[in-house]
Amino acid sequence: MNYRHAYHAGNHADCLKHALLVWLLRSLARKPAAATVLDTHAGIGAYDLTGPEALATGEWHDGIARLWAANPPALAEYLSLAPPGPTYPGSPDLIRACLRPHDRLICCELHATDAAALRRHCRADPRVAVHHRDGYEAVRALLPPASRRGLVFIDPPYERADEYETLVAALAVARHRFAAGSLAAWVPIKHMAPVNALRHEIATRFTDALAVSLWRQPPTDPTRLAGSLLLVLNPPYGFESAAAAIVAALVPVLAGPGGGGLVERWAEE
Ligand SMILES: C[S@@+](CC[C@H](N)C(=O)[O-])C[C@H]1O[C@@H](n2cnc3c(N)ncnc32)[C@H](O)[C@@H]1O
Repeated sequence: MNYRHAYHAGNHADCLKHALLVWLLRSLARKPAAATVLDTHAGIGAYDLTGPEALATGEWHDGIARLWAANPPALAEYLSLAPPGPTYPGSPDLIRACLRPHDRLICCELHATDAAALRRHCRADPRVAVHHRDGYEAVRALLPPASRRGLVFIDPPYERADEYETLVAALAVARHRFAAGSLAAWVPIKHMAPVNALRHEIATRFTDALAVSLWRQPPTDPTRLAGSLLLVLNPPYGFESAAAAIVAALVPVLAGPGGGGLVERWAEE
């Protein structure tokens, strides 16, 4: 496990996935009944943009820093939870900010040091349970949640050779065990072959799937993260148009020449 999110916090991929995550969370909170969020690859909860890892890559300068400067109205909810400052929120902190007292967050993190850091970070919040365990395995073990409403957020580092197969298998289990829940999975875009293969799998095995993409430059170099997408299964009502507005706000600020963004239906309702 070499991946450390501290090097990438606040980059263009975080901006896309987190802006959409915040909308999904706000949507969950519109109904009074309790909801549960399962964050399968949670990280450490918050990231120091002045720390050595963030300084080494400077990726956040071409991500969240640009959004702070442009401040597009369509991203107001996200930016209110990720305001200018030295600390960038990870998914656990964004989720905690949107949860109500009767909602629950289950975080899984497989890296022992990161899991311990996340447990310390969340220890004062009684709504949060932190597990040092494989998030894919937790999908099988912990779903459905008692609340029967909620969101599964899957944000893997794509270090494993079988990550796409494991992701699709986890989505199938989650869909089967938690049919009422929405599922959101982050996917890197380096070149299009693996993305197209995943799209084919989703189209043939699932219903009701949308993919929201943002790419900064044409995805032609397999070694370089050109962009990313958030795949959402069983999206809440209104997600498609909200995602289109979020992408339309992100693209002019984050994309360079040959860049763009798209909301595509990968599987019919
Ligand atoms: C992209 S980062 C997560 C970032 C976080 N979701 C956020 O938005 O702030 C991926 C995390 O997954 C962890 N990880 C890798 N494989 C895992 C697995 N099988 N189960 C749970 N966590 C895993 C890594 O240690 C890393 O912290």
